Amino acid sequence: MSLKKNIVNLKDLESIAKEKLSGKVYDYLSGGAGDETTIYHNKDAYNHIKLCPRVLLDVENRDLSIELLSQKISMPILIAPTAFHCLANVDGELATVSAAAKADTVMMVSMASTKSLEEIAHTAYKASANPKLWFQMYLQPDIEVNKVFVKRAEDAGYKALVITADSPVFGHRERDIRNNFHKLPNGLSLKNFDDDRLMLANGKKATLELSATTTWKDIEALKTITKLPVFVKGILSPKDAELAITHGVDGIIVSNHGGRQLDSVPATIDVLSSIASVVKDRVPVIVDGGIRRGTDILKALALGANAIAIGRPVLWGLSSNGEEGVLEVLKMLKHELDTTMALCGCTTVKEIDKNLIY
Ligand code: FNR
Ligand code: LAC
Repeated sequence: MSLKKNIVNLKDLESIAKEKLSGKVYDYLSGGAGDETTIYHNKDAYNHIKLCPRVLLDVENRDLSIELLSQKISMPILIAPTAFHCLANVDGELATVSAAAKADTVMMVSMASTKSLEEIAHTAYKASANPKLWFQMYLQPDIEVNKVFVKRAEDAGYKALVITADSPVFGHRERDIRNNFHKLPNGLSLKNFDDDRLMLANGKKATLELSATTTWKDIEALKTITKLPVFVKGILSPKDAELAITHGVDGIIVSNHGGRQLDSVPATIDVLSSIASVVKDRVPVIVDGGIRRGTDILKALALGANAIAIGRPVLWGLSSNGEEGVLEVLKMLKHELDTTMALCGCTTVKEIDKNLIY
């Protein structure tokens, strides 16, 4: 199935995914914490921001590419890390990464993937000579386990690490409680943990844990065991943005985990400017949460993001049509951004600034 005439935006793909998936899985993917007010605000906040386009500028030739940490990427649209892609499609993360590699953009691979990080990298390097793979980690309480993961990610050709900081414990997700959705369906598992190197000193095999004891010291310790750039994901406070830089972080991801962790926090787009003004271009700033339109992307770039990332839309593409579906999502958003840039008078991403916000 290629793009049908009745699939023209991301909402259409979500409708198809919803029809295809079981109610429990759809709820897990789409839902969030508490009353899901943050999920609502993440999207709604974009509607309250208006554009102020410039006209009569030559916008014939447009270039959407960006540079992030000296890497050229085809567009400022990245794939945020999401768990368990095999819930959405049998090929899971392998389908997603092929699409990312073909679109020449970053895939942040979740530590909670249903294919191993090595298999994912292998598929990516088959699809592209230079895939943009970043590995997302929940720092584990046992430093030895973290060391194993860092080494594996480096050996497999990942280009950056993304440390998720907003999850000392799991968010309170009522849809999952009601649906009794607490473990992966038969046949699916956390493939990264299926590895003999993860034997602990006590003779047990490590499993994925959220760690409530992780602090900035652990970020500093991580920096000493890897040369890869380290992003911290889940920053909402300008104070934490400053601390991240003090502790040597190479990039910041402004995120509220798509409203899945702490409910009642602001929309990410509403905190972006204050964080960008603290960061002052010292490190790249990426934002995710509720981005569904090319106009949303231009607003985020105008308010200080160097790039944006999408979570659920990728899962809707994957559910609806595997690799093709993910490519469709990336193409649709790229096309929408391209049109928005032209209509705002911009030919490059660098030209997008605050003056375009009304
Ligand atoms: C996530 N997210 C996430 N983040 C992370 O750092 N590691 C992870 O394993 C996951 N897993 C995950 C699963 C699912 C089903 C969703 C929807 C999200 C959060 C993700 O990276 C991102 O912050 C949000 O998804 C962005 O919001 P949108 O684009 O989904 O609105
Ligand atoms: C989630 C975890 C896995 O949001 O990050 O479901």
